Amino acid sequence: MMSKLVRLVLTALPIAAASVAAQGPAPAQATPYKVVDGYKVDAFTMTGFRTWRAAACDRCHGANQEGLVGPSLVNSLKVLSKDDFIKTVRDGRQEKGMISFATNTTVMTNIDALYAYLKGRSDGAITRARVEPMDAPGSGS
Ligand code: HEC
Repeated sequence: MMSKLVRLVLTALPIAAASVAAQGPAPAQATPYKVVDGYKVDAFTMTGFRTWRAAACDRCHGANQEGLVGPSLVNSLKVLSKDDFIKTVRDGRQEKGMISFATNTTVMTNIDALYAYLKGRSDGAITRARVEPMDAPGSGS
């Protein structure tokens, strides 16, 4: 159990490091996502979106993250710290209907990207749930 956790943390670290490196010297208010036009996002945030879809968080939190049986994550992430976000997704709140994703490797490996995507939604910077890669061929720039 412990070694598995350690392994997950070790897998997640290079991803976090890469995202920081990609942003260069970070200003104090750096966001974990990059977005233009409200829906074209960087590869890291795109991974977060794909993780969201793969884990089917939408069946409880809604396709637009605005809540269903689970609360609106657009609202939640305005107050929830990143650490609390990770803890909630990892451990769940079983008695309240939030399941644990500790054994879901896709979610735990990409938790930083998942947070980045949802934080962008919560900040209002990502204006629609379905995002697209910013450097997609033929995206019309
Ligand atoms: C089976 C339904 C269900 C699924 C699937 C689900 N959640 Fe939840 N989630 C809930 C419920 C219900 C709560 C509210 C728990 C409570 O009242 O404290 C919640 C709470 C949360 C919270 C805490 C919100 C807050 O304001 O404290 C976060 C963050 C969260 N979920 C993220 C996710 C993510 C990310 C996924 C997908 C990886 C996911 N959830 C999948 C039902 C679900």
